Amino acid sequence: MSISNPSPKRSPDQLRSQRWFAPDDLRSFGHRSRLRQMGYSAEDAQGKPVIGILNTWSDLNQCHTHFRQRAEELKRGVWQAGGFPVEIPVMSLSEMFMKPTAMFYRNLLAMETEEVLRSHPIDGAVLLGGCDKTVPGLLMGAISADVPSLLLPAGPMVAGRWKDVKLGSGTDVWKYWAERQAGCLSECAMREIEEGIARSPGTCMTMGTASTMAVLCETMGMTLPSAATIPATHSAHSRMATRCGRRIVEMVWEDLRPATLLTQASFENAVVADMALCGSTNAIIHLIALARRAGVPLSIDDFDRISRVVPVIVNLRPAGEFLMEDFHDAGGVPAFLNQLRRHLSLDCRCANGRTLGENIEDAEVILPEVIRPLENPLRQAGGTYVLRGNLAPDGCVIKPTGADSRLFKHVGPAIVFHSYADLKNRIDRDDLEVSADHVLLLQGSGPSGAPGMPEWGMLPIPKKLLRQGVRDMVRISDARMSGTSYGTCVLHVSPESAVGGPLALIHDGDMIEIDLEARRIHACVSDQEFANRKSLWKPAERCHSRGYGRLFLDEVTQAHEGCDFRFLERGAPTAEPDIF
Ligand code: FES
Repeated sequence: MSISNPSPKRSPDQLRSQRWFAPDDLRSFGHRSRLRQMGYSAEDAQGKPVIGILNTWSDLNQCHTHFRQRAEELKRGVWQAGGFPVEIPVMSLSEMFMKPTAMFYRNLLAMETEEVLRSHPIDGAVLLGGCDKTVPGLLMGAISADVPSLLLPAGPMVAGRWKDVKLGSGTDVWKYWAERQAGCLSECAMREIEEGIARSPGTCMTMGTASTMAVLCETMGMTLPSAATIPATHSAHSRMATRCGRRIVEMVWEDLRPATLLTQASFENAVVADMALCGSTNAIIHLIALARRAGVPLSIDDFDRISRVVPVIVNLRPAGEFLMEDFHDAGGVPAFLNQLRRHLSLDCRCANGRTLGENIEDAEVILPEVIRPLENPLRQAGGTYVLRGNLAPDGCVIKPTGADSRLFKHVGPAIVFHSYADLKNRIDRDDLEVSADHVLLLQGSGPSGAPGMPEWGMLPIPKKLLRQGVRDMVRISDARMSGTSYGTCVLHVSPESAVGGPLALIHDGDMIEIDLEARRIHACVSDQEFANRKSLWKPAERCHSRGYGRLFLDEVTQAHEGCDFRFLERGAPTAEPDIF
């Protein structure tokens, strides 16, 4: 038996799993005999790191259909390195099929991950995730369990195609759907687009939330170098799986845990990368949640501070032109980070045991039109702005790239929608009095409002304005927006309307101002009038009185706090289980 053990900090008898298997007592006899029941012999498991492969495969997760094969390839690597692989299914959060939104269940996956890791004889874990909320959910749990962990992102799907046009997930859906609503595209063309826009396993191949989170995790050293961008169907993705299997065994011997990798500096590096990617606004919520789990102070103001000095250099949709496979071919995350090195803390440690600086130092940009040099960025600064004012005292966010610059400073009368159902009912009615100067406001779509803060923040443009050629308007909500979306959409208004935030108190016709350069959002409503309206405001009836929904409503934090559950954020580490 050969065990790869390059710089051991732990000996076999110090493995966590040995508490289950090593003692000469009745309980351990039971554990060992049940391994035999599954067909394993002493040589398979004894004295070896037990590696949990937490697999978010499901028949209803369109982005993870290759994960059964990847799990087998991972196991091969674990065996090669002298570990003992065990595959454990955990909740799969399908961004497309879960309602009201996969975000509603991110914290449930985090809880499951933490408890699965803690309650089993597991020494290290590989987290198989990709589709939007699976990555933060898995990582939040792994941070709290604090066992050596490595993420294998699902990888992006191949580019979509319609006739001679390359299609990008989400971004082109919104674009062509608006054209259809405007009467500029036939039903037949829409069906052809439906056929060609998602045509392989893997995550959305624009710079949506899945791509953003994968890149940020690689930046923080939670993946192996280059793992974030390898397309899901490439044979390199299979080889990466096997490498992850080998490496996690070493990480167990080295006792390299999330707490070592996830520091203040590595989170700041992730924010730098997020701004330079013009990443999904969802990443702000997830990074704050991850940081709080790791005990690292990180606030939305850190994103704004960093966005003022870091240029956008990745030319991917929706902010730019290209797709994830182009990003990979351009050199991927190592080349991207090498361009940014003057903004990064290079001595942060990564999962492969090297520093970030060592990992990226020789990485070259192959396609400079995709990963642009700092001197020729897509945009000088401002991946995401954080706005504050009397409409959002705890902040809100907007991605100016992809918004119409004529709207960066805008004043207009509000049209208020009280829920998404209200929006759907009225937005396309001919008697809706709306012009391109109006500001569309959506209430009731925040963390506890919808609940789960769905991606409703890119409110549709009214059909009658689409037919007049209008393609962007100021839209404000306490919702999130898909990372693949675009437009002048102010999101994550905090506190949300469902808890009585100022957004709940806006009436039709109130004048609303936004000024992006001044980072300001303001409702022209006096303090006295706000107080009067607040005294009359009543919360909506709670939509869950039992079960997980009730727990969610009781415990979820606001958008600027990361939407985790209060009782999961902090506190003393949970004790190891007794084994009696
Ligand atoms: Fe899974 Fe977009 S639907 S990543």
